[in-house]
Parts: sequence; structure tokens; C-alpha cells
Amino acid sequence: MTLDTFSTVVDAYRADIGRTRNDLTTPALLLDLPRVRKNIQTMAASLNGAPHLRPHVKSHKCVQIAKMQIEAGAAGVTTATVWEAAMMARAGMDDLLIANEVVGDEKIHCLAETARIARMTVAVDHIGNAETVSAAAQLAKAEIGVLIEVDVGMNRCGVRSAEEARTLAKKLGSLPGLRLRGVMGYEGHCALEVNRDVRAAKAGEAMKKLLAVVEALEADGFEMQVVSAGGTSTYDLTGANRRITEIQAGSYVFMDVTRLPIAPAFEIALTVLCTVVSRTADTVVLDCGKKAIGADFMLPRLKESGLPARACAEEHLLFDVDSNYPLEVGDRVEVVSGYCPITVNIHEVYHVMEDGVVADIWPILTRGPGFGPLRRFIRNQRNGLVTQR
Ligand SMILES: Cc1ncc(COP(=O)(O)O)c(C=O)c1O
Repeated sequence: MTLDTFSTVVDAYRADIGRTRNDLTTPALLLDLPRVRKNIQTMAASLNGAPHLRPHVKSHKCVQIAKMQIEAGAAGVTTATVWEAAMMARAGMDDLLIANEVVGDEKIHCLAETARIARMTVAVDHIGNAETVSAAAQLAKAEIGVLIEVDVGMNRCGVRSAEEARTLAKKLGSLPGLRLRGVMGYEGHCALEVNRDVRAAKAGEAMKKLLAVVEALEADGFEMQVVSAGGTSTYDLTGANRRITEIQAGSYVFMDVTRLPIAPAFEIALTVLCTVVSRTADTVVLDCGKKAIGADFMLPRLKESGLPARACAEEHLLFDVDSNYPLEVGDRVEVVSGYCPITVNIHEVYHVMEDGVVADIWPILTRGPGFGPLRRFIRNQRNGLVTQR
């Protein structure tokens, strides 16, 4: 059994290989391969290993792309869920950070099982959760690395002060099966700030908070091997801070309407191919509502003209146009999503485009809540039915 068992769905799309966009059924997710390669190279050249890039794979959920990122020099990958990490480990990736707390028996079991085959690190902000992870690690005879998550301004997960971090670190030190590797603090509250100076100031403040925790923990004798932060909006700002050891950027691979004005070094490499299903004097309607495209933060736009949508409904994407606008019922258009990770999570596969034709079909794994096929895979693995990664 291999990871292919997760993606028999790919077979249903294989007939599209060799077709042009005019022959595809819409909505279809198009991946511009030369641009993905270029974005990966641009990020790798920009960071150049200092700090390391640990790209966030929630943005693509695709083994082929993760491998391209590793080949370009990434230190390992970041995931949002334990299922993404399990999938990446079973595809051969060996240094994985789950940049989230993993809570719940089945998820923690999956984490510990995955730690038997790959170096795993997970975020923690609660001693009770850490104790459960420690127990699972011992049972699996595995070691799990932990980063104390610090809230640096998002008011999401993470300890709220250096004192809380110190208390947690001391307790973590006594838990078998766990190894405290450092801290993480994602400055996501800066991600949508278009003004670069304001963004830089906010991100700088956020990293000050993170580094204050680093100093307090170092003063207590803890070695901070990892100080992890950063996203597509701050990779160059946070990345310029020499105390940060790794950057977790993800969306740069594809980009979207939200990130484009903020990270202009990267190009749009992901679109949804749509068909015009209705055309009146003032409105164009595409077959691409929220079931086919991510419209979080900002509404989608037409790729060619940049025209922003007026509304994104369940099945329909609507554009205000004048009567001369050159789109008719049946025409094909590519649309750029508001937020690429949500778009990816909806679709089953990428149509990988090169020289105007579909060059390949790549599966998008651990979609939705993400655990269905993996649950079967891991259960079989425990029962000794699976022998290879
Ligand atoms: C913890 C964490 N790190 C990194 C990222 C990557 O951000 P981006 O996709 O903007 O690169 C995210 C995105 O939500 C995140 O939640």
C-alpha cells in the first residue's frame, strides 16, 4: 500500500492530461507549473538558508510540491494538522513541524505513530495536552519535539507571557518522550496589512515579544534551537531578524488576491478555470461559487483583467460589467481566489498546466477535515498491513 491509495480520485481526471483549458470541465483548479517553480526559487533565493524556510504545506496539500520545496533547500515542512504531517511523513518527508496544538486521542495517536517514522515537532501551550502527548510518545517508543507557542499579537493559541512560558518549559522538562526544541510565534495579525512600514512595525513588535520569551527561557538554561515564525506577508521582515531560525511561509507558492499587493515578488500560479453561465447587460455570472473558490478576506478577481467580483454566492461568482464587456455565455475565464488555502482545500486535484496543456494531474490530500483515508491507512499500519512508507 502506498499513498496512491488516498488518491484513486486522480484516475477520474487522468483523461484530462494533454487537453487545453478549452476542453476541461469547469470549475477546474489550474496550477501554472513554471510559475510555481519560479515562486519556489524566488523564496529560496530570498531567504538563502538564513533563516531556513520551513514552508507551510496547508497552502497546497500536495506531495509533489513539497518535494519541489525540499529540493530547493527547505529544511522540512510545516503543517496545520496532524493529518497533513502524517501524509507528508508517509511520502518520505523527514522533518515536520505541526504549527498547531494537537488535541484529541486519535490525533495524538497519529502524531505518535508518525513520530516513529519521521522527526516530528508540535506546538504546545498547555501542560495537560503535553502530558497526553508524552504518554502517547512513550507508548509508541518515539520522541516528539515540542515548541512552546507564544501569542505574539494574534490572540489565538499560545502562552500569553514569558512567565507562562517559563512555567510550561520547566514542566515539559520532566515529561518523557518529549524534547523541548524552542518556540514559535506566528505574527498572522500583520498578514493583511498592506502598508509595508506599518506591517514592518507590527511584525517587529511581534518578534520582540517572541524574543523576550526566548531570552527568559535561555536564562533558565533551556536551549532554544528553534525560533519559528513568519508567513508570506512577513518572510522578508521577520526573516531579516537573525534570532529567527525558520520561516513558515506557505501561500507564496500560489498567491492570491489578498497576498498579491503585499508580497509582489511572487506571481499568481493558481487559478480556477470557470465558464460564463449567464450574461446580461450589466452582469456576468460564472460557475464558481464558494463551493469552488476561496473568497475569504477578499473577493476573487478575473486573472486577465483584474476585475473584482461583486459577490461570491454558493454556486455563482458575479461580476458587474458594462454592456461592451467581452464575455459571453460559454466563454472560459480564469479566476484568482481571495485566499488560496481555502480554494485548495475544496478541490480534489490540480490540473498541472505547462505550455498551455494539462501536463499532469496531482492529488490534493487530506482535504476537508482531512482524516478519512488516513484513518484507514494508519489503522492498517498498526495492524501490520502496511510495510512501506
Ligand atoms: C501558524 C502559521 N504559520 C504560517 C502561516 C503561513 O502564512 P502564509 O500562507 O501567509 O504564508 C500560517 C497561515 O495561516 C499559519 O497559521
